[in-house]
Amino acid sequence: MQQELELLRKNALAEFEEIKNLIELENFEIEYFGRKDGKLNNVLRSLKDLSDEEKKKFGQLSNDIKIELLSLVETKKSEMRQKEIADKVKNEKIDLTLPGKKFVKGSLNPTSIVQYELEDLFRSFGFIVLDGPELESDYYNFESLNIPATHPARDTQDTFYIDNDGEEKTVLRTHTSPLQVRAMQEYGAPLRAIAPGRVFRNEALDASHDNTFYQLEGMMIDRNISIANLIAVMKSLLKGILKKDVKVRLRPGFFPFVEPGFELDISCLICGGRGCSVCKQSGWVELLPCGMIHPNVLRAGGIDPVEYSGFAFGLGLTRLVMMRYGIDDIRLINSGDLRFLKQF
Ligand code: PHE
Repeated sequence: MQQELELLRKNALAEFEEIKNLIELENFEIEYFGRKDGKLNNVLRSLKDLSDEEKKKFGQLSNDIKIELLSLVETKKSEMRQKEIADKVKNEKIDLTLPGKKFVKGSLNPTSIVQYELEDLFRSFGFIVLDGPELESDYYNFESLNIPATHPARDTQDTFYIDNDGEEKTVLRTHTSPLQVRAMQEYGAPLRAIAPGRVFRNEALDASHDNTFYQLEGMMIDRNISIANLIAVMKSLLKGILKKDVKVRLRPGFFPFVEPGFELDISCLICGGRGCSVCKQSGWVELLPCGMIHPNVLRAGGIDPVEYSGFAFGLGLTRLVMMRYGIDDIRLINSGDLRFLKQF
C-alpha cells in the first residue's frame, strides 16, 4: 500500500509537470480526483479492507498526497487564468478614433425654466419659496380668503370638487392663493414669500384656457406696506423676467381677498399689441392680479391688520411663459409633445 501510494504520487507529479494548458489541467484533476474513477479515490476506497491501524496510517498518507496535489493544481490554475487574461488584453485592440455614443439629455419644460428663474429673482429680493397641497380644503381655497360658501365669487372659478365619502369636500386648488393664509400661519409677520404651483379649473379649452396651469403667488407683509411697495416690486419683477420694457396698465380689479384690488395687464408680446387669439384681439394680456391683502385674510392668518399690512399677487405663470417664448396655444405646454418640448 505504501509503495502503491508513493508510486501514485511520483507519477502524478511527473504528469503534472507536463501540463501545458487549462484543458490538460482539468483532465489531470479528473484523472486523480474524479468522483467515480479517480485514481486517488480508488485507493481510498480500497482502504476499507485493511486493519484499523493500517486504515489510519494509509488514510493519513493518501490524504496528505491529495492535499499536496490539489494545492499544486489550484496554484497552477490561477496562474494559467491570469496568463490567459493578460494575453487577451495584450492582443486586444482599442480604436480610439471610433465616434462615441451620443448622450441624449432631456430638457426642462418651459414652465420650469421660467419658474426657476423667478424663484432666483425673488430669492434675490429676500423672499422665501413655498410649496403647498394641490388637493386643498374648502377653507384654504375659499373660506380663509374671504370667500364664504354663498359668495358669488365662487362661481367665477369652475372648481373640481372631490367627494370624500361624507367627509369634508376637498377641491383641486383653483389658485395658489391658499398659500397666503398657510404661509401666514406658518411664518407670521413680517413675511416675504412666493409659492409657485399647479392649479386646476374646469375650463372650456381653447388657445388660452387649459384645465391645468401654473400660477405664482407672492406676498409681502410688514409694517407700513403700501401700494407704492406693490408697484415697485411688480416693476422689478417684470423687468427681471421679460428683460425688456413692456407697456403695463393697472385697472381696478375685484378679488374678495384684496382691498383695493388691481389687474396689471401687459401689452401682448405675441402680436405687439395689434390683437391676436391669445389677447382676444384686445392687444392686452391680463398677467398680474394683485392688491392689498384684506384685513379678514390677515386675521385668518393670525396677523393683526392694525399693526401689519401687505400686498399679494397671483402671477399667471403659464401665461408669462407663453409671452416669453411666443407660444400661441396653451394646450401645447402640458401636451408632452416632444416636437414642442425639444425646442427649449
Ligand atoms: N388668486 C387669484 C386668481 O387666481 C389671483 C390673485 C392673487 C389676485 C393674489 C389678487 C391677489 O384669480
